[in-house]
Amino acid sequence: MVIRDQYITPAEQVAFSRHFGSLGIHVLDQFQHPDQKEILVLSNKKNQDCSPVGFEDAGRYWHSDLSYARLPMLGSMLYALETPPQGGETLFADMRKALETLPQTMRGRLEGLKAYHSYTRDDKAKESVEGLRPVLNIHQLSKLSDVVHPVVRTHEDTGARSLFVNPGFTFAIKDMEPDDSANLLRELFEHSTKPELVFTHEWQPHDLLCWDNRSVMHQATSYDTNYVRHIHRTTIEGGKPF
Ligand code: SIN
Repeated sequence: MVIRDQYITPAEQVAFSRHFGSLGIHVLDQFQHPDQKEILVLSNKKNQDCSPVGFEDAGRYWHSDLSYARLPMLGSMLYALETPPQGGETLFADMRKALETLPQTMRGRLEGLKAYHSYTRDDKAKESVEGLRPVLNIHQLSKLSDVVHPVVRTHEDTGARSLFVNPGFTFAIKDMEPDDSANLLRELFEHSTKPELVFTHEWQPHDLLCWDNRSVMHQATSYDTNYVRHIHRTTIEGGKPF
């Protein structure tokens, strides 16, 4: 959902987001908004000492927010303060449609499977994203561990079923040989990101973009960094996927 032409303060974004549940706090505390820790600042701006104002490369790979957590995020909101004239779009892949359009035999094969998700794993599935994630300090690392979620999840509110694996954080299928697991994940990622399953959001400043992480995965695209892309993100905590 896109709500255009919004002029809201960080406190107002947090208050609006709270209507949908408790808010997540990202492990990268260096990029929290100084007045609202629930806001993760996504930005290529620099402070006077050249340190980054926000997380510059956030989400440059397909993922569902915090699928690496025991309780992944139910939804997310991005509020754009400044956007580049071209690029820097946010893409969404419809994971419900992705499941529906898999061959019947594959859907049967996925029944009951579980997959590992991690924020820190260095794995084949993540080769394309290496270097995009800041190095975590000991304190941040201590808050993270690998988790296991079903490969197909059921939406708590609608009962709809969706694929719940993503290239950013899902690194293996549980109880499967490494090669078989890598091949299956590659096949599912290729299928879910076919152009007909993907929507592109082209940003305008003051857009508020909201989505359901249980039904889509998303990715930010690259842009000319001579322009500023400055966005405030909030996330809403969800339940244990089943
Ligand atoms: C994110 O994945 O949190 C950010 C996506 C974006 O910047 O478009």
